Amino acid sequence: MAVSVDSARWLINEMVKVAWQVEEVLSWVGIFYLGKVTLGVAWEVGTGLRTHLWSKMVTRDLPREYGGRWAVVTGATDGIGKAYATELAKNGMNIILVSRTQEKLENVAQEIRGRYAVETEIVRADFSVGRTIYDDISKHLEGKEIGILVNNVGVAGSALCLFIDAPEDDIWALVNVNVASVPAMTKLVLPGMIARRKGAIVNISSAAEIFSLPLLQLYCASKVGCLHFHRGTLTMHSQLLVTLAAPQATGPIACRYGL
Ligand SMILES: NC(=O)c1ccc[n+]([C@@H]2O[C@H](COP(=O)([O-])OP(=O)(O)OC[C@H]3O[C@@H](n4cnc5c(N)ncnc54)[C@H](OP(=O)(O)O)[C@@H]3O)[C@@H](O)[C@H]2O)c1
Repeated sequence: MAVSVDSARWLINEMVKVAWQVEEVLSWVGIFYLGKVTLGVAWEVGTGLRTHLWSKMVTRDLPREYGGRWAVVTGATDGIGKAYATELAKNGMNIILVSRTQEKLENVAQEIRGRYAVETEIVRADFSVGRTIYDDISKHLEGKEIGILVNNVGVAGSALCLFIDAPEDDIWALVNVNVASVPAMTKLVLPGMIARRKGAIVNISSAAEIFSLPLLQLYCASKVGCLHFHRGTLTMHSQLLVTLAAPQATGPIACRYGL
């Protein structure tokens, strides 16, 4: 009888010891998890404050920071491109606006010059045409120190139609605008940036780079191309700021498709 009582006591003691050990391990897991969550929240709050508060309080000297007084923005007369052009001008950059419609280019250039003490230059170019346009763009960039390039131009093409129904011209246009323009424009500015060891290249991709949307498969594929070109450029030119923005639906595209 005494033996079985002792055994039960011993068993209970052992179980209590194990429970203490488990509790200790779980406490450490909890502490690590809490630390991770706290750091994550602090990081997000910091990023939010920097983006929405600090950036509005501080005017940066972008020409000095990126080693050139000029910024080139493709697809600069509407939406995200126009917003970039305006914001860069606000921070002291002269702007070269590259886009398709002459009248819109003139209006945006005038609007920017009216608001900020910067120079603007316009280059009318239709990126859907492909390779032949870059000689002319290159002439406009000659003799200018390009500190920032924003590869923004992009189209959805024959969006929301079956690929089988997409006109062949639309397929080539989308590839020329969304894919070819990114390396072609980068090639024009990279030698100067490398020589100065300063510069920024901003590639505007899309959240579509991570989705495979059946009616938008060519658009999604084009943005995956943009992502991988971006990553390669980033790896090879760590002295430059090479950054990628992958917006979700905003502005005109969102409105057009009711997103
Ligand atoms: N808005 C969104 O919801 C969203 C979401 C994800 C990613 N993005 C990406 O963000 C970038 C900008 O989108 P957005 O919505 O701001 O564009 P947007 O408002 O439609 O503006 C497009 C700009 O590109 C120009 N453009 C269009 N086709 C051109 C061509 N063939 N040659 C030269 N210029 C041309 C337009 O000029 P014209 O008017 O003269 O043609 C306009 O200045 C794109 O790369 C897009 O894929 C946008």
